[in-house]
Amino acid sequence: MPIHFDESKKIFKLDTKSSTYAFLVYNGGFLVHLYYGAKLPDNNLKHLMYRGWFDSLSPYAEGVDDPRFAVDINPMEYSTNGAGDFRISACAVRGRDGNTVTDLRYVSHKITKGKPKLPGLPATFAKENEAETLEIETVDEVTGVKVFLFYTVFEDYGVMTRSVRAENGGKFPVELEQLYSACIDFPAMDMDMVHLYGKWAKENTTARHPLQHGIQAIRSKRGMTGPNHNPFLALVDHTATEETGNAYGVNLVYSGNFSIEVEVDTRGCPRVLAGIDPESFRWRLEPGESFVSPEAVMVYSEHGLGGMSRTFHHFYLDHLMRSEWTKKKRPLLINSWEAAFFDFDGDKLVEFAREAKELGIEMLVMDDGWFGNRFDDHRALGDWTVNEEKLGGTLGELTDRVNALGIKFGIWYEPEMINPDSDLYRAHPDWAICAPGRKKSLSRHQCVLDMTRQDVRDHIFHQMESVLSKANIAYIKWDCNRHISEAASLELPPERQGEFFHRYVLGVYDLMDRITTAFPHILLENCSSGGGRFDAGMMYYSPQIWASDNTDAIERLTIQFGASLCYPIAAIGAHVSANPRTDIVTRGNVAMCGTFGYELDPRKLTPEEKEIVKKQVRDYHKYYDLIRFGDFYRITSPTEDPFVCDWEFVSRDKNEVLFTRVIMRRPENLYQHQRLRGLDPDKLYTDEDTGEVYSGALLMHAGLDLSGTPGWRWLQDGESMVKHFSAC
Ligand code: DGJ
Repeated sequence: MPIHFDESKKIFKLDTKSSTYAFLVYNGGFLVHLYYGAKLPDNNLKHLMYRGWFDSLSPYAEGVDDPRFAVDINPMEYSTNGAGDFRISACAVRGRDGNTVTDLRYVSHKITKGKPKLPGLPATFAKENEAETLEIETVDEVTGVKVFLFYTVFEDYGVMTRSVRAENGGKFPVELEQLYSACIDFPAMDMDMVHLYGKWAKENTTARHPLQHGIQAIRSKRGMTGPNHNPFLALVDHTATEETGNAYGVNLVYSGNFSIEVEVDTRGCPRVLAGIDPESFRWRLEPGESFVSPEAVMVYSEHGLGGMSRTFHHFYLDHLMRSEWTKKKRPLLINSWEAAFFDFDGDKLVEFAREAKELGIEMLVMDDGWFGNRFDDHRALGDWTVNEEKLGGTLGELTDRVNALGIKFGIWYEPEMINPDSDLYRAHPDWAICAPGRKKSLSRHQCVLDMTRQDVRDHIFHQMESVLSKANIAYIKWDCNRHISEAASLELPPERQGEFFHRYVLGVYDLMDRITTAFPHILLENCSSGGGRFDAGMMYYSPQIWASDNTDAIERLTIQFGASLCYPIAAIGAHVSANPRTDIVTRGNVAMCGTFGYELDPRKLTPEEKEIVKKQVRDYHKYYDLIRFGDFYRITSPTEDPFVCDWEFVSRDKNEVLFTRVIMRRPENLYQHQRLRGLDPDKLYTDEDTGEVYSGALLMHAGLDLSGTPGWRWLQDGESMVKHFSAC
């Protein structure tokens, strides 16, 4: 049983195969956190609740006869506001009296098999025999608000998920001001914080720095998660490496405004909160109403950042990404955007398809520019009717022409957006988000549709449905190219405007759910000016997300390495483009560390490049399972090493290994060497290039002389090499 409650000690112990999480119901019903980390056999954990002695300025805990206990000092399971804990609070409720004092105490609990769904929200899923869920009921006596804490334990993965439901059990309306999904109190600050920051065309850059006293946070107020910070944070030992040391990862299954904060208190104890950004959030609960927070996924690994990442990867592939395409072989695609931008017609697309077919590519994606009056990015978003003049016929006719060549057909949408120069805007200017009395700021000449509104969502759904049901569409790219300013909904009363941002996200999820339910066989790829909404919420609907508009292979290394900290390689959208900084071999090797595809004009490839593309296509099929479902090892990081970047895939049965090195800047040392990782030391592996046989032990401990392989030459800046081994 992964969840165990010790009645006599009042201790909850949540065990996975590799971790233990424990907390206690203490005097007065306080929930006190005890431990999170490597698996413990002990049940006697009560002493872990103490962090020194009471401090004179901290209030005594009401109803607790213990001079060593104060909610300001002890590790609390789910911190509340204004009742004596002066650290960052997970929960604050404004009651009828106008104050935000919130004091949650344990009432009851239940343990069930499986995992309940989170209404309206994407979340990880489990069958009855795959997980166990603990539900704790707490109550704030004064407001009558009940807060239910959910913990689902995935024993086989070293994963626990958390979410919170608040229910107004009182007689008067209340306002939720903060309702974080998870709170974790750690005992010591000898840890580094690892997170992902960036911007357009430079998403998911890894940052690592020691925790400091005070508050450090990553967040978004953009209406979407955004490229600036990803809703992922890890705390690792100062000494932790890719393969060793304690690593704790927290990731939100959410695509809107979020906040992940760490406060290190004066005792040096870090508290982590993860959830909806409270600054842009208020939620009014009438008596009897409930609110559910998004899910936080927590991973612990004693095998460093790499162990944590591999746990996230396998867990998300098995229990988050619900599309049938997650595990099914996805068609190898070519996208029209960087090949043509808006400058295409039906004939040009058919030419692309014909050339693509020659190369072995399986699907053509028609990007932006196929609808309404969309000849540039100034107009027509919202007018999702096919421009038949531009395409030279109906969409059905075009897809038939492309399909006749043996190529599938995909299409681009940006469903959440509207240009002021569009028929939709002329008919419904009030559907574009804007606070009353303010001017709408434009971004890429566009506004955001008010997705909180059912009528808006219905209209967009029907437009999309009408196009998708009349042609053989195999794929949708769902784009989203601006963030939300002047946020307000004309449909919401003033006292509910604080709900706008979360309702927007719920609206997007609703529309995505309707589209993927109506067209379950369509492969959905998300995108937001590249990787601007690269999050687990989106991954629930789409098994791949375009990682960046930056397709330079060297720049892509940091972007894809960063994304891989939390997200599976199978989800990282990566294409070979015409970007000239590196040769097409390296562009292919880097895109192979992702979904792999093309984004160039195939007619412009030289005969030599075409031969290289054909080999890449063969490799795509050859390594498909290994790359998507194997274990990923980041070996040399492009943010830490100035010269090379190395990574490796190992099949789960350890029978196959694929190693890649990219030379970012040519090292002076002619001797190029690397130790492989994750192999079976007792197995023998054949080097596909040379036929030489080595033990896994040799490849991992002595390593591989990369400069010693036949045909090797001194690789120049931007060049790369790949080594493939099979167990014999
Ligand atoms: C931004 C995306 O990231 C690009 O790939 C492309 O789809 C454009 N939008 C189209 O407008």
